[in-house]
Amino acid sequence: MLIIANWKMNGSLAESKAYFESLDVAGGATVVICPPFPLLQYCGEIARSVSTVQVGAQNCHWERSGAFTGEVSVKLLCELGVRWVLAGHSERRRIFGESNELISKKVRIALQSGLGVVVCIGEDLQERESGSTMQVLEQQITESLAGIVIKDAASGILFPNPEFPFDQSQLVIAYEPVWAIGTGRVADAEEVNSIHQNIKALFSFPIQVLYGGSCNDKNASSFAGRNGIDGLLVGGASLDSHSFSRIVKAMSLQ
Ligand code: PGA
Repeated sequence: MLIIANWKMNGSLAESKAYFESLDVAGGATVVICPPFPLLQYCGEIARSVSTVQVGAQNCHWERSGAFTGEVSVKLLCELGVRWVLAGHSERRRIFGESNELISKKVRIALQSGLGVVVCIGEDLQERESGSTMQVLEQQITESLAGIVIKDAASGILFPNPEFPFDQSQLVIAYEPVWAIGTGRVADAEEVNSIHQNIKALFSFPIQVLYGGSCNDKNASSFAGRNGIDGLLVGGASLDSHSFSRIVKAMSLQ
């Protein structure tokens, strides 16, 4: 079970200290906190004292280093003790124009550096209403994982690219329907479970699939105990350590 807090552009030094002091994540789930870049080192140091908590970055650059003003390299993230990175969050896709092709470059360098990568995918409302959800997800997966997996022409199944060796347990998909992110409109857990099963069936190897989109301490338990749902990616409700702790607890109980 993997439960990730995505603070987005929120949080401060003082808030981080208070957050970790009241965070209660006993229960066996792996908990990853993704604060803004400047808080990574500080949160990482505090997190190391709580063995089940790791830190993750919300983004990274796709080159090792160079003249990329304002960007952050995976090398530096690793040096800071970061274990995970998000790739292709819908806000990065929509607000910052990130394409599947660019996302695939980030996924490649992050995996090569030994980071766990959470590749975010999700349909928008129009795509959902036109019945093309699975098609959209499959295209996002295939293109965001270009060079990492190869589609078998006959079966359509995605196999690891033998020319790109990576630890498959480090690759995670987060299914985050765009219409559910930050809207308070949570997806139906039964439906999420079957979408996750469909996502898993695209791969020749086992892959963890998380759900994200308006998860909170009231609805988290509906996602627990379902074999397609391996965890959650939580935005707004992760900013309050008490509410996030309750989410972790609800998911760990099953
Ligand atoms: P939300 O965000 O929980 O605030 O809907 C989820 C996300 O963006 O990962």
